[in-house]
Amino acid sequence: MRTRPLKVALLGCGVVGSEVARIMTTHATDLAARIGAPVELAGVAVRRPSKVREGIDPALVTTDATALVKRGDIDVVVEVIGGIEPARTLITTAFEHGASVVSANKALLAQDGAALHALAQEQGRDLYYEAAVAGAIPLIRPLRESLAGDKVNRVLGIVNGTTNFILDKMDSTGAGYQEALDEATALGYAEADPTADVEGFDAAAKAAILAGIAFHTRVRLDDVYREGMIEVTAADFASAKAMGCTIKLLAICERAADGGSVTARVHPAMIPLSHPLASVRGAYNAVFVESDAAGQLMFYGPGAGGAPTASAVLGDLVAVCRNKLSGATGPGDSAYTQLPVSPMGEVVTRYHISLDVADKPGVLAQVATVFAEHGVSIDTVRQQGRQDGGGDASLVVVTHRASDASLSGTVEALRNLDTVRGVASIMRVEGE
Ligand code: HSE
Repeated sequence: MRTRPLKVALLGCGVVGSEVARIMTTHATDLAARIGAPVELAGVAVRRPSKVREGIDPALVTTDATALVKRGDIDVVVEVIGGIEPARTLITTAFEHGASVVSANKALLAQDGAALHALAQEQGRDLYYEAAVAGAIPLIRPLRESLAGDKVNRVLGIVNGTTNFILDKMDSTGAGYQEALDEATALGYAEADPTADVEGFDAAAKAAILAGIAFHTRVRLDDVYREGMIEVTAADFASAKAMGCTIKLLAICERAADGGSVTARVHPAMIPLSHPLASVRGAYNAVFVESDAAGQLMFYGPGAGGAPTASAVLGDLVAVCRNKLSGATGPGDSAYTQLPVSPMGEVVTRYHISLDVADKPGVLAQVATVFAEHGVSIDTVRQQGRQDGGGDASLVVVTHRASDASLSGTVEALRNLDTVRGVASIMRVEGE
């Protein structure tokens, strides 16, 4: 074993960074044996240097992250500060000053992954980011390495724990969105500003990363269709239950049937209770991968939290250190297929549409005609008269597979019917 240690700079020492430092210290002997050289924490860049950090030598702590990554003797920079800047500049500076990078930064990878990979390759460095998607769950490496000989056609998953906690709570208790969010906040699952999670931005960044790796193409954050879950209601859960389904916020990346394009989207959807993703409870994540040869694979586990995310960071750190010792770099960017990303209108799936309609002769036929005129085939219709004596009824239509554009056209036309008082909800049905 080499005795000269590999030097690691840690950027950020919050929930994840402090766990990375702790595991590096407590597992030092095992890490050295697995890598073939000791790893040494050479510096820790933080915003608040006066904060007491258990187990970290205060002499290593600095507020000057730029000077740390420019030192020239750093082998690996671990970036766990998140956000676009200063993370992006620190990573590029690290590459230019001899270091490889391990990052947990999904927003940055989704936005600037191509440029960062290009620079890493130009400089002969590694860029690893297992922790950026689904916390501890091994997903990037299986897609990039284990399935490199297969053809992935679909990635379908729950990649945001906060929203899964909220939806699970709504499902199991009948709570409304706000009540479930309040509980998630009180328990520390939701941040004070939950926008990134509940509006689907976090999941969309992860979908962009997964789609790019799975299909060996370039999928940018802007290519991902995104709908959050704040409009999901207790009534939607009641409708889902009536269909033997539950509701999950899903990230869905698909290769078109003809193989010529891909799509990536994040939105709430009904899935059958028999689907394995339906039983993913609380803040857990799970991702279904479908490929030609392997068939269906499911990856499940904690998608967030200090120690689970640090586990993924440490796995990358070991891999990057091994590469460094062997004088090589690991698998880099693979976007050779250059498949275009199709717009949401071309996505084909099933829909559950809940309408408030006038309860009088001919209305069902009128509604059915609108579906037919837009080429959307109806699978089931369920009508329930209202008890309020107002002469209205609730009509639930579940369609066969149709394009999102056809469904949007159908809904627009339905809204223009005098007999349709309102479109109560539209929910996609997945996983069948
Ligand atoms: N906020 C994310 C989640 C964790 O709730 O899953 C980090 O991506």
